[in-house]
Amino acid sequence: MDKRIRVALIFGGQSPEHGVSCLTAASVLGAIDRDRFDVVGVGIAASGRWTQVPLDVVASYRIVEGRVPHVAEPEHDAVWMVGADGCEVATRDGERLVDVHGVDVAFALLHGPFGEDGTIQGLFEMMGIKYVGSGVAASAIGMDKHHMKVAFAAAGLPVWPFVVATDQRWRDEPAAVLAEVDTLQYPVFVKPARGGSSLGITRVTDSAGVQAAIEAARAYDPKVVIEQGFVGARELECAVIANPAATGGCDVSAVGEIRVHAEDGFYDFEAKYIADDEASLDVPADIAPELSRRIQDIAAQAFNAVGSEGLARVDVFADTDGEVWVNEINTMPGFTEISMYPKLWEHSGTSYPELVARLIDLALLRPVGLR
Ligand SMILES: Nc1ncnc2c1ncn2[C@@H]1O[C@H](COP(=O)(O)OP(=O)(O)O)[C@@H](O)[C@H]1O
Ligand SMILES: [Mg+2]
Repeated sequence: MDKRIRVALIFGGQSPEHGVSCLTAASVLGAIDRDRFDVVGVGIAASGRWTQVPLDVVASYRIVEGRVPHVAEPEHDAVWMVGADGCEVATRDGERLVDVHGVDVAFALLHGPFGEDGTIQGLFEMMGIKYVGSGVAASAIGMDKHHMKVAFAAAGLPVWPFVVATDQRWRDEPAAVLAEVDTLQYPVFVKPARGGSSLGITRVTDSAGVQAAIEAARAYDPKVVIEQGFVGARELECAVIANPAATGGCDVSAVGEIRVHAEDGFYDFEAKYIADDEASLDVPADIAPELSRRIQDIAAQAFNAVGSEGLARVDVFADTDGEVWVNEINTMPGFTEISMYPKLWEHSGTSYPELVARLIDLALLRPVGLR
């Protein structure tokens, strides 16, 4: 009898980060220990339809001529069920169900809304299935750049000035929003509240550009956050992984640095995934040990401030005086083999295959239901 643990890798999804998620799936599939884990590939097409994807197709996902891969629209839809023996995934073939697999643990490799934001975590909770990563509330808070700042500030973490333009407020009183933005120092960064991969973000250097930038962000999310920009600050990142045996419940990695080469540039989508020469990732960052410890401390606090589970990457800015400010937490950070999160762990002594196994083991340890 096959005693392997069956893992459902779930990828694609309805957010603009669909293609990145497919790349992550190919990476994780290449690293997962197939002697311990039996994998089923479950893709979510851009239309929202679910489908079982053969593993050779998952393994073939890659960037071709600057274009990211995607989950093809399904010929046959996948079905999830809760049965007497737990959760199962199957394929609907007309009136019949075929390819029925029991699933021990779900690993959603989804970034952005409808994946990283508590929605799929809610589905897992309802189905009583174990899953990798943060639960419903932490995922939702960590996805929303407004709510995450509220949680950080409440925990006493340093947060930089910002303005929130909800859909209602933007329609009711746009002039008041623009006036409030004018109290910040330029440049400002205008962001979709629940975005990711820098999509929809604009760096704005004076008040004349704010309105158009808010409209551009609203193409991604009706809720927009406008932040005062850091000038000359270093962009540093720290990986966190749950460790129930450790004080504070987590371990932190070494600190890494993102160095964007263009003077007025920022770490945008192009620099993150497409162009090799626009940004460098330094692992570890060339910073003083005290600054590194301060960032690790803040990362652990940020992890617990939103109630994260499993994994998260905490991104901060450090100014020239060594003062640190939290930018954001990502509860499903970039997770391809060359992403910052795995690279930080690699440097800290945990290889990518070990990391994948450890995250799944953490999910299996955790009880289902309220915890
Ligand atoms: N307040 C800020 N000051 C300076 N740069 C910023 C600021 N906010 C964002 N950036 C730049 O924009 C990038 C993307 O912003 P971020 O808030 O991390 O959004 P995302 O969730 O899309 O990654 C950051 O990595 C950084 O390069
Ligand atoms: Mg970011």
